[in-house]
Amino acid sequence: MSEPRIVAREPMVMDLEPGSYWWCACGRSAKHPFCDGSHKDLGIQPVRFEVTGKRTVALCQCKATGKPPFCDGSHAALHGS
Ligand code: FES
Repeated sequence: MSEPRIVAREPMVMDLEPGSYWWCACGRSAKHPFCDGSHKDLGIQPVRFEVTGKRTVALCQCKATGKPPFCDGSHAALHGS
């Protein structure tokens, strides 16, 4: 299995309308933070999540969160560039 790619060391904060979303877990999507199918052959699967009412979310971009797709602050503990 390939390692997820760190997209950024901060969450992407965005307003979402109600609906179903697929969060990119591999960090290779051209439509990040959403899956575009680029994970094919990586052994990494996107995470589906539901938004039931319009809300502001903080989506993980470092791919180290323990609560995908949401930021849990794990980016603060990452080392290296
Ligand atoms: S493109 Fe990254 S999980 Fe699908």
